[in-house]
Amino acid sequence: MARGLFLTFEGCDGCGKTTVLNRVSVLLREKGIPFLLTREPGGSKIAEEIRNVILDKKNTEMDPRCEALLYAASRRQHLVEIVLPALEKGIHVLSDRYLDSSLAYQGYARGIGMEEVYSINLFAIDGMLPDLTFFLDLPPEEGLARIRKNETREVNRLDLEKENFHKKVYEGYKILLENYPERIVRIDAKKTVEEESQEIFDILAKRIMR
Ligand code: TYD
Repeated sequence: MARGLFLTFEGCDGCGKTTVLNRVSVLLREKGIPFLLTREPGGSKIAEEIRNVILDKKNTEMDPRCEALLYAASRRQHLVEIVLPALEKGIHVLSDRYLDSSLAYQGYARGIGMEEVYSINLFAIDGMLPDLTFFLDLPPEEGLARIRKNETREVNRLDLEKENFHKKVYEGYKILLENYPERIVRIDAKKTVEEESQEIFDILAKRIMR
């Protein structure tokens, strides 16, 4: 049986990833394509526990390298427990965030260095790069404005970062887009959810059918 595709979704806070992923899921389900939708940090019991430590608003004194290691630890557990078994069964995995989030947030925006963060993540992912990554491109000012308007969204420790941090995250993603043009596909997140989801679905359908 063919292995499933490992597909990751990236973007700044408030770019609409979760909404678009839900819509893409509906389109995949309608076509009877087997897939699993999951998220990082978290996605399994142990990984969710690590997520709670990372995103707890009370943990203001968290050291940047500790934060990067916790994300990598959560990623490892999620990969082994959820992602790999599904892929082996021929199920496509759609992950809301993965490696590139750590490179943009911890590596670039926190200033640890993308290469340093990549190297600790190599240990965690053991060569398991995504087959394809969608970057939902929305300037951070617009993402933050969307978050402020959305009263049902829970505000986490990283949402509370200053505007400058989110600008740096965005710059980090732009660097990744340049460095990995074959793996990362840019999606214009100023479009409607329907347009974005259809664009993503069409790219996925082509890859899946090939
Ligand atoms: P979450 O509530 O899942 O936000 P979103 O819906 O935007 O994905 O919170 C995840 C936060 O963690 C988000 O601000 C991005 C951040 N993050 C990192 O800083 N590094 C990482 O490796 C990952 C996976 C997430």
